[in-house]
Amino acid sequence: MIPTIKWDNHFISLIDQRKLPGKKEWLVCRTLQDVITAIKEMAIRGAPAIGVAASMGLALGSQTITTENYKIFRRNFFEMARQMKSARPTAVNLRWAVEKMIRVVEMMKHSAVKEIKGALRKESQVILERDIEINQKIGQNGLRLIPDNATILTHCNAGALATGGYGTALGVIRAAHEAGKDIHVIVDETRPLLQGVRLTAFELIEEHIPVMVIVDSAAGYLMRKKRIDLVIIGADRIASNGDTANKIGSYQLAVLAKENAIPFYIAAPVSTFDPDLKNGELIPIEERDPGEVTSFDGNLLGPKGVDALNPAFDITPAKYISAIITEREILKPPYKGSISDLFGTDMK
Ligand code: MRU
Repeated sequence: MIPTIKWDNHFISLIDQRKLPGKKEWLVCRTLQDVITAIKEMAIRGAPAIGVAASMGLALGSQTITTENYKIFRRNFFEMARQMKSARPTAVNLRWAVEKMIRVVEMMKHSAVKEIKGALRKESQVILERDIEINQKIGQNGLRLIPDNATILTHCNAGALATGGYGTALGVIRAAHEAGKDIHVIVDETRPLLQGVRLTAFELIEEHIPVMVIVDSAAGYLMRKKRIDLVIIGADRIASNGDTANKIGSYQLAVLAKENAIPFYIAAPVSTFDPDLKNGELIPIEERDPGEVTSFDGNLLGPKGVDALNPAFDITPAKYISAIITEREILKPPYKGSISDLFGTDMK
C-alpha cells in the first residue's frame, strides 16, 4: 500500500497526488506554508488525509515559533491554526485535527514551550497512526454489507491516499477482498481532477483487486442494466441528520441508486461528522478554479475564454443513504437518532 504522508526527520514528506499514477514523487514540506499550499493545491487530498496533514503542518509550524513564553507561543500558534483551518472549507476533518492540536497547547499551559512542541509532533503521529486503525475497523464493520461476487461502484478516491492509510470506502473494499470475497470494482473517472481513474484505479491495481473504469455519465446506464450491486463512497462532512457532503457527482449517483433499488453506502470515520450542523445545506461547498474544468494538464479542452462552474462537492440528502459505516458501528436511518446516539457518549 502506498504511504500518504510521513515525518522525514524535521520535515514532512507526502506523495504528490497530482503526479499519480505517472510519477511516484515525494513532496517535501519544510514550512507550515508548504503544507497549507499542498492542501490547497491538492498535492494531498481526501478528508482524513487533509486532517493528518493539518496536524503535522501545525507541529512543523510550531517549531518555528521562537519564544519561551507560553502566552506568546499560544498567540502565534493560534494564528497558524487559523491559517490552516482556511486551507480547504468542506472536509471537517481539517477543523477536527486543528482543534485537537489546539487542545494540546491549551492543556499544557504550565509546561515549557519546548515540551509543547514535542507533544504536538507526537500528537500528529498519533493522529496518523490512529487514522489507519480506524480505517481498518471501518473495513471490518463494512464487510457484512458486501456480498460475495458483488460488483461495487465507487466514486473519487476514498482509499489509502485519501487517508493516513487503508482507506474508508476503499478500506471496506480492501477488507472484503482480504476476507476472500470475489468482488469487482467499477470506478468512475471523477471529473475534473480524475481521482477515480488516476488514484482509485491505481490503488486497486496495486492490490490486485479487479477494477474497471467508466466515464462519470455511464453509471445510470450500468445500474439500469443491473451491472452494479451496490455503491460505496467516502464523505467530507456529515451533518447531524445524515446529509453528506462528498466529491461532486455523489448526489447524482445516490439518486440513480435509489431509482434502481441499489444500496448506497457511506464509509467515514467519526471525525467526519459535524454534529453541530442541523443539515447538509449548512455545509460550506468549495468552489474551485474554473480552469480545472476547462483544461487538463495545461491543455485547453474548450474554446479559448470559455467560463466554467466548478463546485468541488455536493450534498447527498440522508434519504438516499442506506447506511453509514463508521469505525464504531453501522448507522442506519433515521440518522438523527443514530448520529445523536453516536455522539451522546463521546464526541472526540
Ligand atoms: O477534492 P478531494 O479529492 O479532496 O475530495 C475527496 C473526496 O471527496 C473523498 O471522497 C472524501 O474526502 C473521503 S476520503 C476518505
